[in-house]
Amino acid sequence: MRRLLVTGGAGFIGANFCHYWCAAHPGDRVVVLDALTYAGNLASIAPLIDAGALRFVRGDIGERERVTALLAEESLGTIVNFAAESHVDRSLEDPARFLRTNVLGTQALLDAARTAWGQDAGQRGCRFHHVSTDEVYGSLAPTQAAFSESTPYSPNSPYAASKAAADHLVRAYAHSFGLPVTISNCSNNYGPFQFPEKLLPLCILNLLEGRRLPIYGDGLQIRDWLHVSDHCRALELILTKSAPGETWNIGGSTQDPNLVVVGTVCDLVDAAFAAEPALAARFPRSAPAQGRSARTLIEHVRDRPGHDRRYAVDSGKIARSLGFRAATALRAGLETTVRWYLDHEAWWRGIVSGEYRQWYARQYSQAERT
Ligand code: NAD
Ligand code: DAU
Repeated sequence: MRRLLVTGGAGFIGANFCHYWCAAHPGDRVVVLDALTYAGNLASIAPLIDAGALRFVRGDIGERERVTALLAEESLGTIVNFAAESHVDRSLEDPARFLRTNVLGTQALLDAARTAWGQDAGQRGCRFHHVSTDEVYGSLAPTQAAFSESTPYSPNSPYAASKAAADHLVRAYAHSFGLPVTISNCSNNYGPFQFPEKLLPLCILNLLEGRRLPIYGDGLQIRDWLHVSDHCRALELILTKSAPGETWNIGGSTQDPNLVVVGTVCDLVDAAFAAEPALAARFPRSAPAQGRSARTLIEHVRDRPGHDRRYAVDSGKIARSLGFRAATALRAGLETTVRWYLDHEAWWRGIVSGEYRQWYARQYSQAERT
């Protein structure tokens, strides 16, 4: 039986991980620590809390003493650190917030683990797993080989730089203090419970509400999309099979330009409205409800400053060593994701009717058409 602290468990990937882990390992003790920033949403894990499958604690990973006490009180020997500021555009507005949580917060969490676990953490099977990103490697030219675990770090945004700094700290705590750590660097996730600021949920919800789909620049930037359930499975393999000290790249092996991915989402929304006439009454402002194709809402806007052109992840190491392969094809994953947002209107209405609406208006009023 494992006893896990899941930080950031009320966010997108953390919540998916909690659902995945509690179903796959019902005998384990799971404690979620989450500060419930704008991106955290208790509704995403409420059924697990209500069923007694996990304990939720509201708190900041930067509260060193409090986290140390929580680890000791609950005898938690595994930490999965999802907690972070995660949106590149917000890191361009307020980099300091990213350094506070992603760098200093991670460092405080490492200190808490060191104190609570003591010198023989490795022998006792403790594990600090740090969830990181492929953005630490920077941007690839069109023909450059995909990022491997030995690609030099070259972060380009304050977000990516803060995640790179955290990765270095995690390594340094392993090297200097013998803390048993693993790190994973993952590509772009999509799926249920994703906060609507990110490209795919933003497009799905804008489509339903008849708003334009803002494509930065020429829309030919490439991302390596991975369904979040595949990411959770990869994390499970790392937590259960990896030796400490290892780093793992995780990708979906799908490299499509943003315009193509958004076009697919448009077609899936059109198809859903065609198959289910009741949707037009629920979403009367959407393009298909008004007799237009969803693609007519695509609009090119000013590019993101410093926008990375291409990410691609070489998942060879995790495939060979732990047997991981992404199981969800992109189109099938997008189809179930569109369906999930159609079926969970109460979840996203709670978000888009709050302060997110003002942030969105500020953010996208500056993004004039190109
Ligand atoms: P998210 O923004 O949806 O969720 C982040 C969660 O962390 C929220 O619940 C928030 O309340 C919580 N949080 C923020 N600051 C905190 C603090 N100081 N203390 C405690 N909790 C805090 O993020 P996500 O997309 O789920 O990403 C999770 C992790 O995975 C992040 O570390 C991110 O860098 C990494 N990652 C994300 C992706 C992706 O595509 N979304 C890809 C690779 C790696
Ligand atoms: O690569 C992993 C990273 O993926 C994670 O570490 C980050 O936490 C996560 O946010 C994501 O970063 P991106 O910047 O790639 O994701 P985002 O959804 O913001 O943007 C995806 C692509 O779509 C990117 O090329 C920018 C573009 N985009 C985004 C938005 C929000 C648009 O064209 N228009 C938009 O409105």
